[in-house]
Amino acid sequence: MTRFRHVCSNWRMLSLLQIFTSVQRHHSVHRRGLFIALHSSSHRSIGSNFMQMAQSPHHETKALLYRAPPEVRGMVSLDRDAFTQTIVIPSLRVPKGVLNKVVKSLKRTIVQRPGIPRVVQDKEDGIEEDDMRLVLLDPLRVSSLSSFNEAETEALRSFAVPQELQDYNLQLKYCNLKTEEVLEAVLPEGQEITSAFSRVGHIAHMNLRDHHMPFKNLIGQVIIDKNPGVSCVVNKTNMIDNTYRNFKMELLAGEENMVAKVKENGSSYEFDFSRVYWNPRLSTEHMRVVQEVKRGDTVLDVFAGVGPFAIPAARAGATVLANDLNPESHRWLQHNVKINKVAAAVRTFNLDGRAFVRGPVRQELPALLRAKAGVHIVMNLPALAVEFLDSFRGLLAGEPSCDAALPTVYCYGFSKDEDPERDMMLRASQSLGVSLDGRCSVHFVRNVAPNKDMMCVRFPLPKEVLFSSEGEQTGPEAEPAPKRQKCGETAD
Ligand SMILES: C[S@@+](CC[C@H](N)C(=O)[O-])C[C@H]1O[C@@H](n2cnc3c(N)ncnc32)[C@H](O)[C@@H]1O
Repeated sequence: MTRFRHVCSNWRMLSLLQIFTSVQRHHSVHRRGLFIALHSSSHRSIGSNFMQMAQSPHHETKALLYRAPPEVRGMVSLDRDAFTQTIVIPSLRVPKGVLNKVVKSLKRTIVQRPGIPRVVQDKEDGIEEDDMRLVLLDPLRVSSLSSFNEAETEALRSFAVPQELQDYNLQLKYCNLKTEEVLEAVLPEGQEITSAFSRVGHIAHMNLRDHHMPFKNLIGQVIIDKNPGVSCVVNKTNMIDNTYRNFKMELLAGEENMVAKVKENGSSYEFDFSRVYWNPRLSTEHMRVVQEVKRGDTVLDVFAGVGPFAIPAARAGATVLANDLNPESHRWLQHNVKINKVAAAVRTFNLDGRAFVRGPVRQELPALLRAKAGVHIVMNLPALAVEFLDSFRGLLAGEPSCDAALPTVYCYGFSKDEDPERDMMLRASQSLGVSLDGRCSVHFVRNVAPNKDMMCVRFPLPKEVLFSSEGEQTGPEAEPAPKRQKCGETAD
């Protein structure tokens, strides 16, 4: 580490130039890494880089300052050492006795990077000076003494800090770079980089594009390195358009353990993420519906997945009948019921949604209505649930009609319509065979794709549907097979 005693009048510009001229590569990446040949403009001359930097706005300058060595571009097998370089940043010599006070006063201007110390030992010609320390400054905020504001200048004066900026040779390593900085340096210039992922327990799942594929394992490894708690990175290899709504996925990096453990709204869930549906973006929606459930109510969850409506509803004091067609979901649903200690309140089923409505729901409903219990029917299979509403037609035909409160249905659907609220109301009405106009509310859940929203239509199940003799059904076997879903671009 060398310290230069000179004070530059145009420190910042000189310092920025030094970043490029004094970069000392500690390892030859060409010897170590595995590369893809790229015709990139990253091997520009120092002069043109500097010109670009001198004219850059603040954020661009920042990107340049912390840019990894150009040799890493095209790397497909991660060589962390290849990112090591030395950059020159400003610093202040501060007497040890006032160090804490000075650091506090200079909070705005001190260097802030993961893994980079704010204070280092001061060395004069390699000999440590015990009574002095170097406070490292952010080169993007400090280019000369005049960069300090009035309060900072006053603090430096009152603590008798030598009014002199020192150059400090900072070794910048892979661990000091952010994910985007690493990927920006590696992926072909001008191409969109991605560091976005959804987190499900220890699993990060990504949605890589074709141009990312040569770098997929490196991207996965960087995500693991930079995100504590992530030990497995997967890429979705299909749209979620199969019956069970789970992704096919490919391991990019880390351990091949797909059994995730997550917490949502205070409940615990465990499941094999590669074989069941789970979406961390639905936690607010799960909570919104469960908040409507009161102690003593009954919840009938037609497409229950691994239990994110059913389990919190049971914990809130409801009795629950939860169903899912996917045997794997059903298995994890049973497991989650146990680990959340709600087995006494939840009965699980592994049936098609129609069979569930025509079987267990049909069986329970008359007594529940007679008991004037609050009943909630949850139908979260947005690509298809609306089409299942016809299974309520004539469900209680022949039973004595009652004037008690009717079950509340929460039915989810996707809409690409300009007026998604009306679209949902109309489609639900059509499936039920009665108009819901003025008898339902429609809630926007989330946007799943450009021009595609997930919605929830909520309504009291009309008496004329439940007790209608038209369309009367006698049992699950009388039902048509569920229609094939068409949801090519469906993200959910
Ligand atoms: C979108 S997921 C919702 C799961 C859960 N309710 C949630 O909010 O996370 C839909 C679930 O419906 C199940 N499913 C798909 N088709 C079904 C059918 N015909 N009958 C019953 N369940 C079905 C899938 O296995 C999946 O678990």
